[in-house]
Amino acid sequence: MITVCQHTGPWARARRGTVGPTDEGRLRPHTLAEHGLMREKTLTTLEDASVTPVVLGGPRGGPDVPTLRTDRYWVQPVVTFVVLTSFVAYASWAAFVNKNYFVGSSFHRNLISPFYSPCLTASCVPGASHTPTIPWWEVSPALLILIFPLGFRMTCYYYRKAYYRSFWLSPPACAVSDAHGSYTGESRYPLLLQNLHRYFFYFGLIFNVILTIDAIVAFQQPGTPSGIGISVGTVVLVVNATLLWLYSLSCHACRHLCGGGVKQFSKAPIRHKLWKTLTPLNGRHMLFAWLSLVFVAFTDLYVRLVASGTIHDYGFHF
Ligand code: FES
Repeated sequence: MITVCQHTGPWARARRGTVGPTDEGRLRPHTLAEHGLMREKTLTTLEDASVTPVVLGGPRGGPDVPTLRTDRYWVQPVVTFVVLTSFVAYASWAAFVNKNYFVGSSFHRNLISPFYSPCLTASCVPGASHTPTIPWWEVSPALLILIFPLGFRMTCYYYRKAYYRSFWLSPPACAVSDAHGSYTGESRYPLLLQNLHRYFFYFGLIFNVILTIDAIVAFQQPGTPSGIGISVGTVVLVVNATLLWLYSLSCHACRHLCGGGVKQFSKAPIRHKLWKTLTPLNGRHMLFAWLSLVFVAFTDLYVRLVASGTIHDYGFHF
């Protein structure tokens, strides 16, 4: 004798309290029990069990249908596609437009867009550059530096999964067939270059230091009595630097750098401590990846709106 639980109704409807007996389901027994919807059915023979016929012979030996999943597995890849495409479009525009990336002393502020920092060319607007500059570079200074944060994100283990699924449908989700007939992984050029991630991580740390300095410098308010204050722009730059640090410190390469390859943690207590500290961050890497991506674009937009005079950067000085 086999006893099975028949589930009815999706969990979301259960949370709304509108679960109905006609719902086909994925609810857990205890959720169903709460709504009085769990039924028990006693099967006397195996023929009573319903089965989904599967014909092998599809792509790479799977079922002859793209998937047996009935949930909305496509939502996540679609959202990923939309957000990443929007970010790339905005970042490309912002990098080429080459203006309104710095809010200087005429506004009693010292705010620079993260897309343009460090500003390395002689064409940088006055006050934006604190380093030696390249005199012959005529186009946007953002184009000189974007390769590093871009390379860091493009080779990130999490983003790789995200854009392989959403742009290449390779595969779009778990238990859904690959849109391609063959699979070579990352063993050939150009995907072999994904192994450069750990080097982009080192460059990413340099940029984090620079953007942290920018956030500290953003407390300057030139032309005010004390020359120091806090504005919305200051807070925006501080949050941006914090999120970028969280993104970098939760990186898999960072965690491996700190605790990888250690055969006995007892003999490497400092690395063990670092590894234990970073591991919870690493578990939230996806969250930090999205937050830092969206916020870095927002930071550029905020600086741009203030620099162009579209909005006022409210704040106070000491
Ligand atoms: Fe995502 Fe390293 S794995 S930044």
